[in-house]
Amino acid sequence: MILMAKAQPASEIDFNNLGFDYMDLPYRFIAHYTNGQWDAGELSEDSTLHISEGSTSLHYGQADFEGLKAYRTKDGSINLFRPDMNAKRMHNSCERLLMPAFPEDQFIAAVKQVVAANADYVPPYGTGATLYLRPLMIGVGGNIGVHPASEYIFTIFAQPVGAYYKGGLKPTNFTTSYYDRAAPHGTGQSKVGGNYGGSLLPGDEAHKAGFSDVIYLDPATHTKIEEAGSANFFGITKDHEFVTPKSPSILPSITKYSALWIAEHRLGLKAIEGDIFINDLDRFEEAGAMGTAAVISPIGGIEYKGDLHVFYSETEVAPLTRKLYDELTGIQFGDVEAPDAGFK
Ligand code: COI
Repeated sequence: MILMAKAQPASEIDFNNLGFDYMDLPYRFIAHYTNGQWDAGELSEDSTLHISEGSTSLHYGQADFEGLKAYRTKDGSINLFRPDMNAKRMHNSCERLLMPAFPEDQFIAAVKQVVAANADYVPPYGTGATLYLRPLMIGVGGNIGVHPASEYIFTIFAQPVGAYYKGGLKPTNFTTSYYDRAAPHGTGQSKVGGNYGGSLLPGDEAHKAGFSDVIYLDPATHTKIEEAGSANFFGITKDHEFVTPKSPSILPSITKYSALWIAEHRLGLKAIEGDIFINDLDRFEEAGAMGTAAVISPIGGIEYKGDLHVFYSETEVAPLTRKLYDELTGIQFGDVEAPDAGFK
């Protein structure tokens, strides 16, 4: 049996230089679904899962997950950002994969328990780093036919993280791909493991070619931008429109809805969910990727059929993208007043 080394003590972590990596922190929450119901769940010090070789999550991808963050504020307290939205989205993902959703109020309570138990690992204010929480549900128990499992595990583990893309707030370039991420009536709108398994090969090809990530095009026509797989896409036009794709096969990013609100109410932009044609990138002055892990990551340029379309700059952060980043992270870290509309 392989035992994972426990994370070093929080006092020894360089919170200013974190990437986006797994760490085996002291505590995680774990609950079990058996005989048609969830138990109450509890904190556990065991970071390993012992499951049947016949688990549906292993064979048929009956697994979904979430991502949310805890933020250390200036006064030392800890903020969560819209955990109710993650609970709801996981509920939707569970419905798509015929999994029994963990009750949303208990989801939020469990997130708080994990944060409190690992509070030493919530990075200090001013580092820009956060504690990333990963709720995960998997189908377990012996099963070999293609049917939903009768037993499930729900867990929430955590790790301190820095920037998702190597550039952080520096622009990086993205590329398009021959591969599709999701089908129009498939599972693209759900946060399920299979969507990400299928993105490993295109992602690897993109990284080897020097790009941060892939911008997937719509699977039906390959003419419209869908999303980056690990984040949603936005562009800001010369006419002060903030535009992000609307499609049945992209993940409804919580950061995207927050950014749409900020764009309209705090930056004075027209916020639009609509088509973005890959042949029409000239309309955009600025572009970026947005998500819980990605936060607001400026995109320098997008490669399509051998040509690199550069937006504002490959090296400088564009002004509205920076404002969007400052406003969003200001709300998250408690430096900027949050709107009433459920942003806390
Ligand atoms: C997130 O932003 O939380 C994600 O899940 C994206 C990626 C790390 C899978």
